Amino acid sequence: MRNQAIFIGTLLLLGVMSCKQEEPKQQEATETETEAAYREPHRPRFHFTPPAQWMNDPNGMFYLDGEYHLSYQYYPDSTVWGPMHWGHAVSRDLVRWEHLPVALEPDSLGYIFSGGSVVDTANTSGFGSLDNPPVVAAFTHHDPEAEKAGRDDFQNQSLAYSLDRGRSWTKYEGNPVLKNETQIRDFRDPKIIWHPQTGKWVMALAVYDRVQFYGSPNLKDWSYLSEFGIPGDTRLWECPDLFPLEDPETGEIKWVLIVSIQQEAPNGGTATSYFVGDFDGTRFIANPAAQQWLDWGTDNYAFVTWDHAPVGPQERVGIGWMSNWQYAQEVPTEAWRSAMTLPRVLTLRAVEGGYSLNSSPVEALEALRGERTDLGRWAIAKEEEVTGAFSPSQCELLLHTDMENTTAALFGMTLSNGKGDRLILGFDRENQQVWVDRRQSGPKGFSEDFFKGPHTAPFEAEDLRDLRIYLDVASLEVFAGQGPLNFTEIFFPEAPYDTLTFWADEGVWVIGSGTVFSLDGIWETP
Ligand code: FRU
Repeated sequence: MRNQAIFIGTLLLLGVMSCKQEEPKQQEATETETEAAYREPHRPRFHFTPPAQWMNDPNGMFYLDGEYHLSYQYYPDSTVWGPMHWGHAVSRDLVRWEHLPVALEPDSLGYIFSGGSVVDTANTSGFGSLDNPPVVAAFTHHDPEAEKAGRDDFQNQSLAYSLDRGRSWTKYEGNPVLKNETQIRDFRDPKIIWHPQTGKWVMALAVYDRVQFYGSPNLKDWSYLSEFGIPGDTRLWECPDLFPLEDPETGEIKWVLIVSIQQEAPNGGTATSYFVGDFDGTRFIANPAAQQWLDWGTDNYAFVTWDHAPVGPQERVGIGWMSNWQYAQEVPTEAWRSAMTLPRVLTLRAVEGGYSLNSSPVEALEALRGERTDLGRWAIAKEEEVTGAFSPSQCELLLHTDMENTTAALFGMTLSNGKGDRLILGFDRENQQVWVDRRQSGPKGFSEDFFKGPHTAPFEAEDLRDLRIYLDVASLEVFAGQGPLNFTEIFFPEAPYDTLTFWADEGVWVIGSGTVFSLDGIWETP
């Protein structure tokens, strides 16, 4: 509880320092302004970033009429956290985004914290009609005044709706719809799903160190169903997401509960975790009870999924915030702060005693592929520079390792530049670890935590056969195998990384076949 109080207290202080009442914020920019902005140092080229200022969690994600909507925690007056708004963007393919005006602004009930949106097809809320069903956004109203006054009930759940494909939003006059009567201060981040088997809406809500579930026939009246936690766990849980996934092998339906954890992640700070189990409309039972990590890197937080996305029952599409509360407000970007991860598809994989999730980048990203460099079959002994029609700062690598002929104890790749910065991705076969070392990845001084490491994750040798790696100016995303292992990390070199080296220690790393694609930027006019 104390950690959270310090965290929110610090955030509020920063917010109060820079809080101003202003005209409604517009995020629209002309095409050329956008292109110029997206050429700033460290600005990712094919990841979603806000046009300017501070962003954290993805929020209010739904798909309607051919458009994926992405809202996000946004503070339009500063590059640090402050009074939260919902920024807003849409995409037809999850790859190229169009910025829209801010969707929700703070009001007399407080800041607009995280939450999710649903398409209310049957108009259960009565906000629209059957002909024009409403999209309903559920979010936490965080009242900073009530918090300062020492009250426990400063986080309550509220609604807003749109009848025009998310272009404008009306807050419900009956807000808040779910008041905090728990006497637990952390009571936030509602994520709603329609549960057809019991004919009601189910809300997953983070309540300090657990998730509570609430049910409603109409999105306005909520009643408590149950709660789920780990006995003895006192870490702060945030941003839950509950959804079903079908086992591709057996056709069985399992339920996934995603929860972001605010401290003590495997490589420090904050990270997204999940449980797989069963949900009967009232209660979630994890099976097995173990918590798993969605991503082993330091930079994938608050990962949540799209409502209504046009995918089959075996898939769920989501996105995470590519940062970490340990240093998010200190990273050396000037005009804006934070990017989202690449959008990813989650699928179930049966493992001994239960299930895990695979995540892989959405296929639509292939549309960004430009020049192709084939590496062919290649036995790497010591060090080899990898050159071709691509920039090591903006590319996709597909590597198939010939495990049978690979003898190296350690192998991997290094990104470097003329300034002496380097980022290392390595595979340690003996200790079955993948590691990322960003300790020398760029100028230090902005955060001690950022430069700790190296960061590691356990792997199965089998996972290394197929590696898919995305490099985008200031980020690395590794997908191993068909997706059991994800590793996402950010970094800030003094100059763009222009050299890519493959290396092997104590033996050879045999790449059976390899391809590098240069990737187009998503903000440039084709
Ligand atoms: C997670 C979080 C949420 C909260 C939001 C505030 O990163 O702390 O729990 O709603 O950020 O911006």
